[in-house]
Amino acid sequence: MTLILRCPVCHEPLAQSFHTSGMGLGCIRNHQFDRARQGYFNLLPGHKKRSKNPGDDKTMVQARTRFLDKGYYKPVADSLANTLDSLGKPSVSQLSILDAGCGEGYYTERLQQTFPEASVTGIDISKPAIVACCKRNQAVQWLVASVNDIPVKDQELDVIISVFSRCDWNEFARLLKPEGHVLVLTPGEKHLLELRQVIYETVRPYPVDKLLDQLPESFTLTETKAVQGVMQLNSATDIMDLLAMTPHYWHVKPSQKEKLASLNALQCRFDMKLYVMQRAG
Ligand SMILES: C[S@@+](CC[C@H](N)C(=O)[O-])C[C@H]1O[C@@H](n2cnc3c(N)ncnc32)[C@H](O)[C@@H]1O
Ligand SMILES: [Zn+2]
Repeated sequence: MTLILRCPVCHEPLAQSFHTSGMGLGCIRNHQFDRARQGYFNLLPGHKKRSKNPGDDKTMVQARTRFLDKGYYKPVADSLANTLDSLGKPSVSQLSILDAGCGEGYYTERLQQTFPEASVTGIDISKPAIVACCKRNQAVQWLVASVNDIPVKDQELDVIISVFSRCDWNEFARLLKPEGHVLVLTPGEKHLLELRQVIYETVRPYPVDKLLDQLPESFTLTETKAVQGVMQLNSATDIMDLLAMTPHYWHVKPSQKEKLASLNALQCRFDMKLYVMQRAG
């Protein structure tokens, strides 16, 4: 089953359109969206963009792909896939999963491979990220779109995944079927502690559980899990790629960045928290 998409301009349903050159999507009000040659649809209208090139840039996307493809965060992908499996949803073609803020698609691909029958969609506001997704996997539906205005019809989804990305609970409530689930992965207090100790003089614990303050009444927290491990990074490339995946990439002083770049090895922990939320029936 493929998801019913909605027009990002007028919110009417989108259907295959033959007005555009090649295969495209269109709504009843004649808003048209071409399929990019890489296979994705760009459903982020120009007037809804806050900047010319929103989201992660190509350098960050490439760093993320290099790092993730080395398997450092495989235990994290395992934990997501196992948790989704444990929800007991039937792995059938009616099962629909959306990765909101999917980046370059590492976790989305893993879910598609774990649930090959399901309809899996990945959205991200960054075009370079979605282009990288298309190279990774052609069985997922990839969309350039914002988490704050997801171009999918109401109550179409069984599961929404949000990995280190922003959550829009109004959108999630609109899109989930009754009793649908949201899986959110955020940093735990000591996430990347050793990396942060190299670049900052004082390292503060990450604040945790902040997202629970914003959780609307229509959602219940059903489970939390710690996802933790130790990585042995054995090259300057891997260390700098890890930095480029974090917000510290923007905040670090050049001198501290050089200090990190001079290292050839770093043992560093990851400390994440996985939350499972369920929408009311
Ligand atoms: C820290 S990255 C995480 C990417 C991926 N989930 C992962 O863990 O590899 C955050 C992602 O959110 C995207 N992003 C930022 N604002 C967004 C928005 N409003 N809608 C959709 N994606 C957004 C960025 O482009 C980036 O790819
Ligand atoms: Zn429209």
